[in-house]
Parts: sequence; structure tokens; C-alpha cells
Amino acid sequence: MKTVTIKRYSNSFDLECSDIAPDKSISHRCAIFSLLSNDTSTIKNFLLGEDTISSLSIAEQLGAEVLRDGSNITIKPPKKLTEPNDILDCGNAGTGMRLYAGLLAGVDGSFILTGDKYLRSRPMNRVTTPLREIGAKIDCREEGNLAPLSIRGGELKAFRYNSPIDSAQVKSALILAGIQAEEVSYYKENLLSRDHTERMLRGMGAKVDIGEDGWIKIEPLVKPLKPLNIRVPADPSSGFFFAVASAITPNSKTIIKNVTLNPTRIEAYKILEKMGAKISFVEKENLYEPIGDIEISYNGKLSAVTVENNIAWLIDELPALSIAMALAEGKSVVKNAKELRVKESDRISTVLEGLTKCGVETIEHKDGYEIIGSSLKSSTINSYGDHRVAMSFAIAGVNCGMKIEDIECIDTSFPNFFDILSQITQLG
Ligand code: S3P
Repeated sequence: MKTVTIKRYSNSFDLECSDIAPDKSISHRCAIFSLLSNDTSTIKNFLLGEDTISSLSIAEQLGAEVLRDGSNITIKPPKKLTEPNDILDCGNAGTGMRLYAGLLAGVDGSFILTGDKYLRSRPMNRVTTPLREIGAKIDCREEGNLAPLSIRGGELKAFRYNSPIDSAQVKSALILAGIQAEEVSYYKENLLSRDHTERMLRGMGAKVDIGEDGWIKIEPLVKPLKPLNIRVPADPSSGFFFAVASAITPNSKTIIKNVTLNPTRIEAYKILEKMGAKISFVEKENLYEPIGDIEISYNGKLSAVTVENNIAWLIDELPALSIAMALAEGKSVVKNAKELRVKESDRISTVLEGLTKCGVETIEHKDGYEIIGSSLKSSTINSYGDHRVAMSFAIAGVNCGMKIEDIECIDTSFPNFFDILSQITQLG
């Protein structure tokens, strides 16, 4: 198990990040959606993290020819997806497993999706239940809930599904199933979750449109889609660690370059702004979605905040936001966030355990928590194999010094995290 020690940093910094990890959600989708075309997709700045490399390897196992030149790749899909001669390993990636489940449910053949010990303990019935209802043949442990998932792909029925959870993974799985069904399908969620799937598939020529009533109309594919031609923007969730670092370090500033400004992805920055940090967004281009720079500056001590709306838009940033809350003036409250319990770790429990070790008073609820802002003290934190927990407490280390155990997981989403962190503090 690898550990890292982060030294407290007492100076200010001015960081310009043009090498924040490429977006994980979009990279997964590039690997998977390229299989829906009959032409070669060109992807620049693909995330070379373990999670997305797993999705790319699965695309190869299904018959795609992948040419890699660093983070620039081309994916030539097979004429027809081939039945692989081995299991398909999604690693730590919930996105990979759930999206591939939706795609493969409609593909002729037998497929087994598995993952690491963390992924094998995360709920899959959120996708297997609606997929089984439309005729998918999926078998797995705990009556459809735990991977490995054994899928026998075949014909799927059209559906009208009002999802009980706001989850882009569930939505994407159902859209991938819907475009393979024979008739038009409809999908609805209470709050629009990240919408990369809809934007990218539309860009490729699919008819996936959201109506004014919130129902997404999914039309069956009548011909193969156009290939992707995309440069993956930086990942706002990865950039957010450095946003928090500058918001808690006097006289500091970070610019995150070429990041997606998709409104479903930047809500945590808006909360940090509400807490008092100075933040500006500058849109520079629109390629499938808006892309630009985000600048975050220290602007005095942060104030406490209550976070209870649009939770799906900041769910991945809550661990890092909790570090900012721990240093803010007053009591911060997070509500309606029970989804945190089924992420790469139970993030309510792992984040609060870490904060308690750092001397912060917290109150745990079933679907959220409260943090009494004060100061942080140096401690030793176990990441429980969760990349975002590891990186959040590494950022806390900039403020007070920290030892983090089990840091290999950071490679799932942000392989150069420590290269950037070492520009603002010393690592041991
Ligand atoms: C993701 C969707 C979110 C997010 C995850 C990536 C995606 O999960 O937490 O890190 O790429 O679709 P849910 O859709 O399950 O909320």
C-alpha cells in the first residue's frame, strides 16, 4: 500500500493548470460510443487513467481496433461487435460497468462484466432492474444487484421509465438500450443529471431529445452513427481539488484551462463562490458542450453554506468541498446526498472519519452531514481505496500537513495529481 506525506504550505501560490486530467465521464463515453459508428473516431486528450483505460480495453475486446499515440487515440469499430473470449474487466469504474451493461444488453452474445472488489460491492440493480424489465437477460449475485454481471444480449422492448434516482449512469445505460429497441422509448429523471451522453450521441447523429416536460425521447438507431471527432476537455471534478486549495490558501489563485463548463458539472464551483471565493468562468468554445477556463482566487476566510439542491451536479466534488467547509466560519450542512453512500466508498462515512481525525466536529445523517468549521490538524488518513477521498485530504494537507494511506486509487482518474500538487507544496 503506497502512502504520501504532504507538507503544510505557508506561502501563497499562483497556479496555471493546463494539464488537469481529461474528463473521466466524457472519456468513458468516447470509448463506448465509438462502437456505435461504422467509421473511425478520433479522440484527442483521452484520459489515461485506469478507469477509462478499462473501458477502452473492453472496446478492443469487443472487436474495436485502437491506435494509441499517448493520449491521442483512434478507435475503429468492428462491423458487428464480437463476443469476447474472456470476461470484461471494468476495474474500479461504475460508469464503465453501468454503460456497458446498457449497451451489451442489446447485443447478440454472452458477456461478463466484472470489476475490482470495490466495484463488485456497489449496487447494480439500479440498471439491472429497468434493463430486465425491457427484456434484458442479466444474471448476477444478490438477485441482480452485485457484479459480476452475466449478460446474454438480445432483443429489447421500448420503454417509458421515470427513474427514481438522478443518475447519469442509469440514464446512459437506458439510452444505450433505448437506441437498440424497436420502438421509441422515453426516460425521465427529477433533476437533469450530467448530460454528456445526450449531447455526444446527438452530435453523432442520434435522436435523443429532451422535451419541455422533462421526458427524453430516445429513437431507435436506423443506421450507424457518425464517428466522434473530439478533444476531451479537462475534468472539472479533478480541477476542483486545486480550486479548493486556492480558496483556502491566503493570496492564492488557480486557473484551470480548457475545462468543460457544462452546467451539470460546475455547481461545486458555484457553491465555493457562495462561500466567499472569487470565481470567474470564461467560455472559449463549444464542442459537444461549452469549454473554457475557470479562475479561482482566495478572497478571505470562507463562510459556511447549506447544500441541498442540485445534488447530482456536485456529488463528485462533495469530499473536496467538505475540506473547504471544515475551514469555513460556521456550520455547513449537506442534505439529500444519500448517493454519497454508494460511490467508490461510502463517502459520508469516509469523509467524516477523516475530518474527525483532523480534529473537526461533524454530525452524520443518513443522507448527509454537518461540519462545524474550525481548523484542521495534521493526521494520517486512510482513503479506503477512494480516489476522491485521497485527493481531498491531500489538499487539506496543503493547509495543515497530512499523511495519506492507500493512494494507488488516484491513478483511476488523475494520474498526474501529485505532479501538480508538488508545484504548490512539498511531498514526501
Ligand atoms: C458519472 C455519473 C455520476 C458520477 C460518476 C460519473 C458518469 O454517477 O458520480 O463519477 O460518468 O455518468 P451517477 O450517475 O451514478 O450519479
